[in-house]
This record gives sequence, C-alpha cells and structure tokens, in this order.
Amino acid sequence: MDYITTKQAGEKWHISDRRVRMLCTEGKIPGILKPGKSYQIPAGARKPADGRERADNPAASDKRYLKWDNEVVGVIYKNNAVYFNAPEFNEVMSIYTRGQSNWPPEQFNEFLAERVVGRGRRDIERILFRLGLSRYDAPLIAELTRGIHPKDLLWIAKSRAERLEDAMTDAHASVFLRQTDLTGDSVDTPEGGNIKRYGAQGGQYGVYKRRISPLTTDAESEVAVYLLGKKLGVSVCAAVMSDKDTIFSTFRYDFSSEHLVHFRSLFDGARSDNEYQNLIGVRPQYRDDIARMILLDFITRQEDRHLSNMAIKISGGEESFYALYDNGRSLFYEDTAETVKAAIADPAGYATGFGYAGTYWDYTREIARERGGLGELIRLDVSKKDVRAILTAAGLAGYRFAGALEWILKTMDMVRSLA
Ligand SMILES: Nc1ncnc2c1ncn2[C@@H]1O[C@H](COP(=O)(O)OP(=O)(O)O)[C@@H](O)[C@H]1O
Ligand SMILES: [Mg+2]
Repeated sequence: MDYITTKQAGEKWHISDRRVRMLCTEGKIPGILKPGKSYQIPAGARKPADGRERADNPAASDKRYLKWDNEVVGVIYKNNAVYFNAPEFNEVMSIYTRGQSNWPPEQFNEFLAERVVGRGRRDIERILFRLGLSRYDAPLIAELTRGIHPKDLLWIAKSRAERLEDAMTDAHASVFLRQTDLTGDSVDTPEGGNIKRYGAQGGQYGVYKRRISPLTTDAESEVAVYLLGKKLGVSVCAAVMSDKDTIFSTFRYDFSSEHLVHFRSLFDGARSDNEYQNLIGVRPQYRDDIARMILLDFITRQEDRHLSNMAIKISGGEESFYALYDNGRSLFYEDTAETVKAAIADPAGYATGFGYAGTYWDYTREIARERGGLGELIRLDVSKKDVRAILTAAGLAGYRFAGALEWILKTMDMVRSLA
C-alpha cells in the first residue's frame, strides 16, 4: 500500500496539517501507521466526515476506544466487539491484530484476560478489595483498571478525548500504588504546586511531577541526579523533562505483577539517631545499595531522602532494592547565591543531613571506616567535562549551575580521598 504524510493529506483535503494530525489522534482515519514520530496515511484514505461526535448522542457514549497512549487505534462496541482503525498502527499492534480489522467480543475478552493482574499475585486480596470486587473476575478487573498493562501503551478510554495520564492516575493510584503511599509522607505543598499524575511517555510508564515553585530548580536537579547516578554507577529511575515545568520519572517495576514497599513500612516503633545503621539493620542484604545511595546523596546535596523516598521491590516473592527516585530536592534547588557560595567554600560543613542526626559527609566517612575504604562502590572516574555536560543537559543555569558543578567536583574529591 502507498502512504502519504499528514502534510500531503492536508493539501489533498484542504485542511491544515495540524487538523490531519488531530484526526489521526482521534482515530478518524482508517489504516494509519505510526512507525516513529510521524503518521503515515494510506494514499487512498478518504477525508473523514466533518463534525464532532456529540456527547448527547447516546450511540456515541455507548462506545469506548482502544487507545495507544493518547491515540485511538480501535473502537470498542458495547458488546466488546472491536473495530480497528489502525490494526497495523505499529509493530506491537500488528502482532496483536495480525492485520485483522476487527475482533469479535470473545477475542477481545481473551486479550483482556491476559492483561489483568494475576490471580497468583501476593497482594491480590488487597487489590480486589480496592477494586470493590469480592472474587477474581478478569473482564471486570480489565474494565476497572482500563486494561492498562506496563508491557505496552494500550488501554481503554471512555471517550475519544480522555487522556492516559488521567485514566492512569485514577486506576493506578487507587489500585496499584496504595500500598506504597499508605504510610508514606509524600505531601503536596500547601499551594498545591506539587501535582503528580501517572501516565506514559516515550513508551514507558511513570509519574509526571510539576515543579514545586517557579523559583526552584527541583525539576532540573532531578534530571541531573539521574544522569550523574548513571555515570557513577548508581541505580536511579530515569527522569526527563516533559515540558519546562514538569518532570517525568520512569517506573522501574511492572506494576501489574510487582509492587513497591517504602522503607517506612519496614520499621515500627522508634529508630536510632543513626539512619544508616537503621537501614542496614532492617535490610543488611542492601548494605552496598544503601552505601551507594548515601554517596550519591552526598555528592548531589540531597535534602529529601526520607523513608518514603526509598523502596524495595517485591517481585514474585523475591525482594530487591528499588532504583532511587524523587531526587529533585538537591543540588541547591532552592538556595540563594549567598548560601551556594558559602557551601562550596566549606562542603564538609555544609553537607546536607540524613535522618535525625548527622550529615552525608559523616555517613560517607562511617561507611569508609567500616569497610576500610570505599572500594568499587561507585565510579569516580568522572571528569569536570562530564559533569558540565550533565548539568547542561539537565538545564541548570546561572549560579546554581556553577554551584552544582563546584559542589559535585569537590565532594567527589572528598570521596576519592577515602576510596
Ligand atoms: N520512578 C518511580 N518509580 C516508582 N514509584 C515512584 C517513582 N516516582 C515516584 N514514585 C512514587 O510516587 C510517590 C511520590 O513521588 P515522589 O517522586 O516521591 O514525589 P514527592 O516529591 O511528592 O515526594 C513516591 O513516594 C513513590 O511511591
Ligand atoms: Mg517523595
């Protein structure tokens, strides 16, 4: 089949390129493909009829839509029959549909049954409870979780306009994420500046977080810590800017079969003043991961590593230390030029604190003492040029860029002196 671009289709149909792209997103052009960033439209496609679907049209509200991220790829009728407008939208869709343009209800139900949380999941009782179900019912679970599954970006939308980040915020936050946030202290700022939404970006699931205030660089810092962590060999959840005030933090777990538990839930009762010892006391098997976290936190001036900003991942009865997330409150994210200046003149004195007492520098030295050095915990062969490139890529600017650069280089030297 021959394909044309949205621009060519627009010229042919006497509408704008933008309007054609919107029609693609809304699923109104049959047979489109989207192998990469742009659409391909069958050369023979007819111009879609004008006019929006009206909300007061009862036939319209009976329909649901199968979307890939935020683009309609099929229409789901009341009886669960599916008609694909884009059966070969991309490689994954082609595998699912094998080029068929429609699925009878049984086939769609079977497809959904494979996407819902497994009956054998350890916390299945709790999940069923949250879903308001008293027994395991795959089609119903699919209905309530919108068929969202981390292996692809397909889901069930109630309207053409509904967006994945909204549907996922509802489904994911209430169904899958409760156990991590139940006892967590992830608090919204009083001015409501800290808005989080679950959703997908670039083919991966994660959480969108808005900048805390216009004066902070918490978004840029989050990206910088991710990039630096990667360079130093510390496992950090990927963070990218999604617009100038929003960070997207990528999940590193499959939420349909795995779950996270915040460190907060691993403690009951009082803890000692030494947070490092508290942590390795409760999970000695993560001694290295915890040490790596502390070194990275020292180097990035972390100011927010409390017990709900660290987690373990539960996967089929096995647990592991989860990659670091929520790293934006770091690297002078809300400091004045004066503070930055004082801090880089005296990194040991201005190191940030961890737990009830002690600074990251204290804990770094404690770790080195315990081990007789820092060995291969993190990589330290990072040059000034590397750090510059990271901070530039993250979008830090002005005195915070200069301050972060100085701080990172100086603290890395301090760590090297103990290595
Ligand atoms: N990359 C991630 N992977 C898994 N869970 C995450 C991730 N980012 C955030 N979360 C979850 O969302 C909660 C709030 O996000 P967080 O980044 O800590 O924001 P806040 O700044 O509001 O504390 C976290 O406590 C964690 O449970
Ligand atoms: Mg947090």
